[in-house]
Amino acid sequence: MGFVVATPLLSRLPPSVSGRLYDDKMSPSATYDAIADWYEREFLARSRGLPEHPLGIDHALRALLGRGSGSCLEIGCGTGEWAALIRNLGHTPLGVDLSAAMLRYAKDRLPVIRADAEQLPFASSTLPAVITVMAHTDMPRYPVVLAEAARVLRAGGVFVHVGVHPCFCGGFADRSDPAAVVIRPGYLDSHWTTESWTPQGVRARVGASHWPLPELVHAFLDAGLAPERLHEGGKPVPTVLAIRARKH
Ligand SMILES: C[S@@+](CC[C@H](N)C(=O)[O-])C[C@H]1O[C@@H](n2cnc3c(N)ncnc32)[C@H](O)[C@@H]1O
Repeated sequence: MGFVVATPLLSRLPPSVSGRLYDDKMSPSATYDAIADWYEREFLARSRGLPEHPLGIDHALRALLGRGSGSCLEIGCGTGEWAALIRNLGHTPLGVDLSAAMLRYAKDRLPVIRADAEQLPFASSTLPAVITVMAHTDMPRYPVVLAEAARVLRAGGVFVHVGVHPCFCGGFADRSDPAAVVIRPGYLDSHWTTESWTPQGVRARVGASHWPLPELVHAFLDAGLAPERLHEGGKPVPTVLAIRARKH
């Protein structure tokens, strides 16, 4: 069997789960398997217990996803860090991720399916809400993922993207001085890179893709997801750009 479904939670998955579940031929190996323990126990632990998330991710989800009901699918849910917040907003969280090691943590926090974001195992036009949180730079074909999100969303459904800010965060942005962000050449290159101002982050460990702002927004529009609200988080200039879009 090439997929992992958190078995005790299987009965809680919505009836819209369908199609092909993950098998190892679908996509390159799950890079996050190698760093799952570090990601959960060190990286995420840095911002737990603070009154608010330093990058404003909690605020972005409250502002853009807001209160609601029904399934909310997180594509690239990782260890399930945002499941409790999504549940507190009234939604029923559900996650997919490629990495079995990340899902081992997530399965105690929400129902999860090991699946490739480019081939979501859900029927078309079934879900009221889909989100991605700090994951688009890990998905080299994010426009394909956006098209998949649009496919599984109902008409009128909401898609919330919370991601690395394309203008102020990336291989080209030196954030080592807390008082100033230095933007070096590189913003216009959409290449994957492990270049980073800090060895303590995700980018230095697994690398990241990058889309200049117009390409990112155009990918939403091309997928049939119309942006309607934006939110930025992080200081002294934003680290995160969040977008709420709707399928019409
Ligand atoms: C930086 S982590 C973010 C995890 C979580 N959303 C969070 O905010 O903590 C990015 C996640 O995207 C997942 N991912 C990358 N490519 C994927 C793909 N093609 N399909 C599903 N998940 C993918 C990785 O395995 C990883 O768990």
